[in-house]
Amino acid sequence: MSGEQLTARASGPLGGTIAVPGDKSMSHRALILGGLAAGVTHITGLLEGEDVLHTAQAVTALGAKVERTGGGEWRVEGCEWRSPEGEVYCGNSGTGARLLMGAAAGFPISVTFTGDESLSGRPMGRVLGPLRDMGAGVEASDGDRMPLTIHGGNLNGLRFVNTKASAQVKSAILFAGLRASGAVEVVEPMPTRDHSENMLRAFGAEVATRSDTVSLGEKRELFACLVAIPGDPSSAAFALVAALVVPGAKLTVTGVMLNPLRTGLFTTLVEMGANLTIANERDFGGERVGDITSKFSNLRGVTVPAERSASMIDEYPILAVAAAFASGQSVMHGLAELRVKESDRLAAIIAGLVACGVDAREDGDSLVIEGLGGPPRGGAVIDANHDHRIAMSFLTLGMASAKPVQVTGTATIATSFPGYAELMRSLGGRIE
Ligand code: S3P
Repeated sequence: MSGEQLTARASGPLGGTIAVPGDKSMSHRALILGGLAAGVTHITGLLEGEDVLHTAQAVTALGAKVERTGGGEWRVEGCEWRSPEGEVYCGNSGTGARLLMGAAAGFPISVTFTGDESLSGRPMGRVLGPLRDMGAGVEASDGDRMPLTIHGGNLNGLRFVNTKASAQVKSAILFAGLRASGAVEVVEPMPTRDHSENMLRAFGAEVATRSDTVSLGEKRELFACLVAIPGDPSSAAFALVAALVVPGAKLTVTGVMLNPLRTGLFTTLVEMGANLTIANERDFGGERVGDITSKFSNLRGVTVPAERSASMIDEYPILAVAAAFASGQSVMHGLAELRVKESDRLAAIIAGLVACGVDAREDGDSLVIEGLGGPPRGGAVIDANHDHRIAMSFLTLGMASAKPVQVTGTATIATSFPGYAELMRSLGGRIE
């Protein structure tokens, strides 16, 4: 259990306007591609959470010059990667680890990757399999877990079918493919977030997306560019759902990224009757962004189809909290991947909701929640179990439940959302 604890209590009407930190997926990618590109990449809006800072350290250890020039502003001078002196420690971050593995595999170097207790238990075979097929050498402990060592270089092409609908796997293959000879194609039966494709194009690589297939073209050299990172919709979700469940609340989160492969939660909340509105939609650094206003709403239960899961894979814990307040049953399908996130999220959601007085159960790979049509009892102690999103989801529940909710191990929130508790307090949230 990592340290610190926070208690959330029934909060007055939340109100105000905030911005949330930069998108985590884009932040990892900006550092890694900057580290691979010729020239100096300037990044603004980088998420300065622990996960991303571990990627910055990794890219430095692999030879790039990485420097913080201001709040969220970073400068990265890319290079040919070299074998680092020690291990590359990725902390809690599956995204950092898997994307770095792919990028490193392209070079004739050896890199040993390690992570925290949570990351060390997560499956890496999904990335190691295709990298082996491309010709990389891999030494890994039982079940393809960390610690593991990749011996890269001399890669060939690959056609890979991304059956797990994982953007991390797709990205690792594309990044390795930058230095492979031959065709590199990823077929996606279910589309996943396309930040790697978009950013590779911005760095000058040729990437084609045709129906369900993403492929690298002949031009695979990267050149430094400017990367502007908008607010993370996965972080905005916690404040927006808090406003939906705290009576009288109304708040706005500005500059939220609205890439359609990331907005499944917002679609679902609107189907539940949420009063969510988007204003000032605009382009920002190649992505759509907008200002989202959320007001207290009487939510209804919802059925979420499996086909939507990739576009909201990180949002099920907070959706489950919204579903607990809604009237009627909610059913969410296609959640097998939740079992291998920072924690077994399916188990963590159910245990936490049940402890707070909500009837929740799994049914195969589906999650079933009997909404109360009002505030749950709360009054529970929930361990974050190294999972930032579990921590923030149950603090959200505690801001509107009858009795306070205490969450232990809340230090993990800093992996993706440094300043979360202060920001919620600035809106009137009672989190101490
Ligand atoms: C991410 C992809 C998702 C998501 C993770 C970030 C990414 O993981 O859960 O937080 O940046 O590519 P999977 O690709 O394993 O589904």
